[in-house]
Amino acid sequence: MKVFLTGGAGFIGSHTALVLVEAGHDVVVYDNLSNASRESLNRVERLTGGRIAFIEGDIRDGARLDRVFAESDIDAVIHFAGLKAVGESTEQPLAYYENNVAGTLTLCHAMDRANLRTLVFSSSATVYAESREMPLPEDAPTGRPTNPYGSSKLMIEWLLRDLQTADPRWSIALLRYFNPVGAHESGRIGEDPQGRPNNLLPFISQVAVGRLPELAVYGNDYSTRDGTGVRDYIHVMDLAAGHRAALDAIAGSAGLWTWNLGTGRGYSVLEMIRAFENVADREIAYRIAPRRPGDVAECWADASRAERDLGWRAERGLEEIMRDAWRWQRENPEGYRDAG
Ligand code: NAD
Ligand code: UFG
Repeated sequence: MKVFLTGGAGFIGSHTALVLVEAGHDVVVYDNLSNASRESLNRVERLTGGRIAFIEGDIRDGARLDRVFAESDIDAVIHFAGLKAVGESTEQPLAYYENNVAGTLTLCHAMDRANLRTLVFSSSATVYAESREMPLPEDAPTGRPTNPYGSSKLMIEWLLRDLQTADPRWSIALLRYFNPVGAHESGRIGEDPQGRPNNLLPFISQVAVGRLPELAVYGNDYSTRDGTGVRDYIHVMDLAAGHRAALDAIAGSAGLWTWNLGTGRGYSVLEMIRAFENVADREIAYRIAPRRPGDVAECWADASRAERDLGWRAERGLEEIMRDAWRWQRENPEGYRDAG
């Protein structure tokens, strides 16, 4: 298949590009490089020995998408492009709705004009309503997200559902990621946040490598086993394999499917720190800080639907996550700015 990856130069997109090239697919990446470097794809090409067609472009540019779709015979789209910083989204809601929601609308219009109606979308566990019942199955209620980023993901899910209902020729997968972490086992590609990381594992790795002095643990008074927040951390290579499985499953059959991509296990912040320390053999300085607004106590997936429908499940455990995250950070302390 020829697969078009919006946002394919980013963290999850670049790992998925690698998995797809290795599986024999043709990959075209379309990215405006607002939060990524072209170097990620150079490295994927070197790792796989394959070629990736790269187009620098924006999903909000419908005329450009029309030209690209007219020139290349695309079979399916995996739509990663979007802004993803939760805190920033509360300060710049319009930028988030414009990039994520309006960008998706523009993309869907262009796909429709090109008779291209197979789409895999990067959704998030953030769409679920806060719940005491864990794990979360796909039919758990969705909620009123606590920030514009989360709202944009839920709005896109609605938009895609309505589109598929109105035109049943569409084939759409909503993939709800839990917490993507880790890196390719080579240490050549990984997560490269610009500025101060928002997420736990990149923060821990940057403390380990000396870029940041200490980690703030956001609250130790949750009703969890050690008082710190519990999440379902999924290795990015498992996540990438989940995209390949979803694509194989939906290509050629119309419908809309929702799958959780998680491991089905939750770990606390303190457990994550300890697991990282064991692998990296160094101490992570941390202090307990107040809760971060909008955080839930616990969140982990019921991942059984994906296993049943796709024959996919996460294979990599916490030790591999930490080993690969650490290798990437140690060998690229400045991310892709350490080009080579
Ligand atoms: P990322 O920022 O590394 O990748 C997103 C990519 O999209 C970047 O390469 C960026 O340059 C590009 N992009 C942004 N706006 C664009 C636009 N208007 N036109 C073209 N390209 C644009 O993020 P990621 O972690 O790889 O996330 C990929 C997707 O998965 C996002 O939609 C994100 O919301 C979703 N997601 C991520 C997580 C997570 O924790 N990483 C969790 C759940 C869902
Ligand atoms: N945490 C800290 N200190 C930090 C960063 C995080 O203690 O510096 C804690 C958080 O409080 C939380 C856990 O580590 O308990 C994980 O936090 P992350 O920021 O890594 O991840 P979240 O679960 O908050 O958010 C992630 C994605 C979002 C997505 C959400 C869906 O980043 O894009 O999962 O559940 F919307």
